[in-house]
Amino acid sequence: MAESFVIQGGKPLRGEIKVAGAKNVALKVLIASLLTKDELILHNIPVIDDVIRLLEILKSLGIKSNIDGHTVSISSKNIKSTTVPLEVGARIRASYLALGPLLARFGEAIIPNPGGCRLGARPIDRHIEGLQKMGANIKYYSEDGYFHATTKKLHGTTYHFDKNSHTGTEALILAAVLAEGETRLQNAAEEVEVDDLIQCIQLMGGHIERKPNREIVIEGVSKLHGAEYTIMSDRNEEVTFAIAAAMTKGYLIVKNSTPHTLTPFLKEFQKSGGIVEKISDTVTKYSAGKKYVPTHVTTLPHPGFMTDWQSPWALFMTQANGSSTVHETIFENRFSYVEELKKMGANIEFYEPKINNPKDYYNFRWEDHSDGCCQAIRIVGPTKLHNAVLSMHDLRAGATLLIAAMSAEGKSYIQNVEQIDRGYERIDKRFKAVEADIIRVTEGGP
Ligand code: EPZ
Repeated sequence: MAESFVIQGGKPLRGEIKVAGAKNVALKVLIASLLTKDELILHNIPVIDDVIRLLEILKSLGIKSNIDGHTVSISSKNIKSTTVPLEVGARIRASYLALGPLLARFGEAIIPNPGGCRLGARPIDRHIEGLQKMGANIKYYSEDGYFHATTKKLHGTTYHFDKNSHTGTEALILAAVLAEGETRLQNAAEEVEVDDLIQCIQLMGGHIERKPNREIVIEGVSKLHGAEYTIMSDRNEEVTFAIAAAMTKGYLIVKNSTPHTLTPFLKEFQKSGGIVEKISDTVTKYSAGKKYVPTHVTTLPHPGFMTDWQSPWALFMTQANGSSTVHETIFENRFSYVEELKKMGANIEFYEPKINNPKDYYNFRWEDHSDGCCQAIRIVGPTKLHNAVLSMHDLRAGATLLIAAMSAEGKSYIQNVEQIDRGYERIDKRFKAVEADIIRVTEGGP
């Protein structure tokens, strides 16, 4: 049943809120359970739809799991299949990461083509190339929409990523830890979520070392054992909360805060006029400033300004005095929220930056870029946003529209909120606890 939020905006958020565990670590450490017969105990796992769906997919392979609060115990002792069913696999992209571990442990895997999503084509060519260099035979059959993979034994290799890939790096780590010999990943992703996965696999007995100049070296071992691990906080949530405090002219005292993972965000936020106060090592207070200075932000792989922060940042810049720009270089279609914000009165225009060699400059494949859409927006503020009927297209855009509705005068409606439930645990309840006026309604309900 589709659900919507009804939001009475214009109320400052005030109070304490806790950051949940990182979605983009939780999905990977759950998949890492395929690497051992022993039980993995994972703490600080967010109870979000993507995690629930992934556990259903892993169950279809024969994996047993139990959720107790935010702790998941999971064991792949009784694997009964190495095929990720299309109907469930297609519901959560990250399920394709099971390819490496299934090949490493069982020598075979059949997984659905993750396909594109609302952010663009999102191919996995860099993943497939790396696995093939490790000795995997992988063929894609468009008739059934599956990748069919087999291997006698995965072996170490040196693989150079031509461009950054966050889950591509993770996919090859998950395959290399049980491969024969040494694997060197060059131009490997440095997103902090990758390091969290590395730490978990090291606790399981994996030999993985991050070297200087974006290199990761993995020494394959014959088997891994169980472990108990607590994953990091979700830095995308913390950015969402900081901007929500500023946009609603209130403040949020954020617990489980990890400012050391947010350096480029904190720099821009404070430069623009947002107020950040360190209460303790794990508690940060974010407050609205008096007025905001426009900024010019370009999204980049870590350690740059993260693409997941792009949409809430663009919303924040609608309140800056003057003209700001946001240039998206990671995904070719990550501005779905712009038309929705324009319904609320935001002054945002698209433009195409002049780039000498876009093929090398952008992190996506230039052939996936369609001439219709642009990679940058110009935002002129400050604008007093007003209410509207809004629709969510992807997870981060959803969070952005929620903040926009809470900060705008009047009553707003946001449809298909299941998008936000994918990555934010009970977000309406948590915002209500800090004085937001949000009601969740079921469409076509009683
Ligand atoms: C991960 O996506 C995250 N998802 C994204 O978060 C995040 O925005 C992104 O990394 C950047 O940090 C998960 O961890 C589940 P990439 P990923 O591989 O790994 C292209 C969220 O909201 N590319 O670094 O898919 C690709 O299309 C999500 O939580 C290829 O062309 O990102 C994209 O344009 C959104 N071929 C760009 O590179 C490949 O083989 C970056 O992709 C791989 C990627």
